[in-house]
Amino acid sequence: MNKFLSLATCALLALGVSSCCNKNGCENTNQTASGASCLEVIKNRTSIRQYTDQPVEKEKIDNLLRAGLAAPSAMNKQPWKLVALTNKAKIKELGDSTSKPPITKSTLTIIVCGDMTKTSGNADDLWWTEDCGAVTENILLAATAQGLGAVWCGTWPDPNRFNKVREVLGLPGNLVPYSMIAIGYPAENPAPKDKYTEDNIIRIE
Ligand SMILES: Cc1cc2nc3c(=O)[nH]c(=O)nc-3n(C[C@H](O)[C@H](O)[C@H](O)COP(=O)(O)O)c2cc1C
Repeated sequence: MNKFLSLATCALLALGVSSCCNKNGCENTNQTASGASCLEVIKNRTSIRQYTDQPVEKEKIDNLLRAGLAAPSAMNKQPWKLVALTNKAKIKELGDSTSKPPITKSTLTIIVCGDMTKTSGNADDLWWTEDCGAVTENILLAATAQGLGAVWCGTWPDPNRFNKVREVLGLPGNLVPYSMIAIGYPAENPAPKDKYTEDNIIRIE
């Protein structure tokens, strides 16, 4: 296992493996707490839209939030705020009002918001959207790594959608809901899609 994968495992999954990295690097840390390697988690992730009623444990929620907050961001501005929603009535209201069945069925929804007070303030500065995308993917991977199912439900860049989310959750105007991630214990088991095609690669050797 090379150092890149070890680092990626540590950074992406942030599962609280305290011996993960030290000043000498991250050797021999290619396994997560659940035994899955970083690459296996990436390959196994697929959108899950049906969930059981089993609530997600606090420790797992914590791991998801930590994985999200470990994301890279332009100039390390971390221009984000995460909303962890476990209130059943609010989850239902949010899913119904945005017409997102996976949200309605989830036991946990994490809303990744851009925090406009942490951006440059220029309307054409959209680096925060890149940053929030990285947060979202980190959370999806951390969900897979912990045996949870999850799906990215897009809100940005549709103002009707992100304004609705802000309204339902009563969020302040500086927060722009970028994505909603429906999460829960899987009640379906779809195979991950094989998207690999050489057509989508340009090799310059
Ligand atoms: C920006 C974005 C928005 C998405 N929005 C939705 C959505 O609103 N509802 C949904 O069920 N899936 C949504 N998805 C999930 C995609 O449908 C899914 O990732 C895609 O079909 C590939 O399948 P996979 O995730 O299983 O690899 C979204 C994904 C992205 C990246």
